[in-house]
Amino acid sequence: MAQVIVVTSGKGGVGKTTSSAAIATGLALKGHKTVVIDFDIGLRNLDLIMGCERRVVYDFVNVINGEANLNQALIKDKRNPNLFILPASQTRDKDALTVEGVGKVLDNLKADFDYIVCDSPAGIEQGAMMAQYYADIAIVTTNPEVSSVRDSDRILGILQSKSKRAIENLEPVKEYLLLTRYSPKRVSTGEMLSVDDVKDILAIDLIGVIPESQAVLKASNAGVPVILDEESDAGEAYKDVIERMMGSEVQLRFIQEQKKGILKRIFGS
Ligand SMILES: Nc1ncnc2c1ncn2[C@@H]1O[C@H](COP(=O)(O)OP(=O)(O)O)[C@@H](O)[C@H]1O
Ligand SMILES: [Mg+2]
Repeated sequence: MAQVIVVTSGKGGVGKTTSSAAIATGLALKGHKTVVIDFDIGLRNLDLIMGCERRVVYDFVNVINGEANLNQALIKDKRNPNLFILPASQTRDKDALTVEGVGKVLDNLKADFDYIVCDSPAGIEQGAMMAQYYADIAIVTTNPEVSSVRDSDRILGILQSKSKRAIENLEPVKEYLLLTRYSPKRVSTGEMLSVDDVKDILAIDLIGVIPESQAVLKASNAGVPVILDEESDAGEAYKDVIERMMGSEVQLRFIQEQKKGILKRIFGS
């Protein structure tokens, strides 16, 4: 039976779609059959980041409305046979995502997949509420700044009161903190909160810290999830996240400022 993972945040632009693409790809690389669903109706970012935007014919809302079946709408990733993408509709109204409709699609997917990754829109509107509703695991994506942390706290409140697990009095959604766009340099100058600051405020388990990295924009422009960029620190950090999800203990990396060596200090870089 598949695990449903929601990648969520209160604030927009924190790295949810980047993380959804990386995590889904990482799980597939581990041999798990994985589908990643774009819940951001109207925006359609995920298919761009996954590099499959030209293959989109049918979408999530078409399936909910019975205009296409899952088989027609799922896009097979061109790099990994274990990975599928269910794209968002670009035009339709956000109320198309209903509890019944989403539940039916997830039930169908559960029979076939190991992991279902739900890329949530920001905030607490319908799309975001539906993305978190059926979650078993929540990856609360947060940037190391006060407004993002505050909004993540709000999302934790939603998960604990409005998820199916909360409503049906089941074991709570397992919540993890994913700290993204982390810049050790800006932490040391006091412009950003540190890993410990954020952990203290939100008080949930940390699943990873992704550094601020040029490689992310490069990867999304190329339509290749950054976890496939062997050279990038952000890609390596996402690989560590997958290892932790699989139960390994992996030390945090990329959280200390890179000090310049003596030669670089004398001669410049
Ligand atoms: N680790 C990172 N380093 C640098 N830029 C990042 C990082 N993560 C995300 N971004 C950038 O931040 C922006 C928002 O990312 P996105 O994943 O679309 O966020 P969301 O889905 O939360 O709105 C994009 O321009 C993306 O390239
Ligand atoms: Mg997004």
